[in-house]
Amino acid sequence: MMIELQDVCFAYDGVPALRHVTATVEKGETVALLGPNGAGKSTLLRLLNGLVFPEIGCYRFEGEEITARRLREHRYAKWFHQRVGFVWQNPAAQLFCASVREELAFGPEQMGLPADEVRRHVDDALALCGIAHLAERAPYTLSGGEQKRTAIAAILTMNPAVWTLDEPLASLDEAGAAWLTDFLRALKRAGKTVIFSTHDTALADALAGVRWQFTPAREVRVER
Ligand SMILES: Nc1ncnc2c1ncn2[C@@H]1O[C@H](COP(=O)(O)OP(=O)(O)OP(=O)(O)O)[C@@H](O)[C@H]1O
Ligand SMILES: [Mg+2]
Repeated sequence: MMIELQDVCFAYDGVPALRHVTATVEKGETVALLGPNGAGKSTLLRLLNGLVFPEIGCYRFEGEEITARRLREHRYAKWFHQRVGFVWQNPAAQLFCASVREELAFGPEQMGLPADEVRRHVDDALALCGIAHLAERAPYTLSGGEQKRTAIAAILTMNPAVWTLDEPLASLDEAGAAWLTDFLRALKRAGKTVIFSTHDTALADALAGVRWQFTPAREVRVER
């Protein structure tokens, strides 16, 4: 079992955002998080990425309980964040380097890969994401769709086993949406575990074997 949520509860300042969520994800599964605005989808993605933690219940990643204390261990945190990639809904908030090329190199450099290998990963990701012409640009000068592709490329160079994406279609045009759908299909084919929130039921239908339906009561119904 890759991911195991057991009776997970989480509240923001006492206001419940997730209530008693129990669900699992196997390696290679694709899960769509569906449900109305404010139902807790982004919160759950933050929790899966170790940015917030269950107040009740437990989140296990490959058998290890993910807690604030666990992620304060530098080596474990580094390993975990390399295993689980997160594409935020707002890519601008995720990009912090001076150029697209540096943004893509950051992950593999952190992992300690030699420079020629980093360069190869970066060039591959630039090509795969159709942003080679943007390599020397500053991320903040890019359009929303270009930033989205850059954020995805920056995760790609880390090659995580689990991809989590919050509203991946947001800020993409029709061609971008078609590209993203193909990209997610390729991740599936490569055996990656993919978890994404969306309001686009066509995307969920096209890709997801499992649906987690979020209800206004802050609960999650798993539909296979
Ligand atoms: N940082 C925060 N502080 C306080 N409340 C928050 C915070 N983040 C989210 N919430 C609240 O938690 C609830 C769940 O929010 P969340 O962003 O997880 O919903 P969502 O399902 O992703 O919605 P959307 O479809 O609009 O993206 C909402 O009521 C929201 O207002
Ligand atoms: Mg959201």
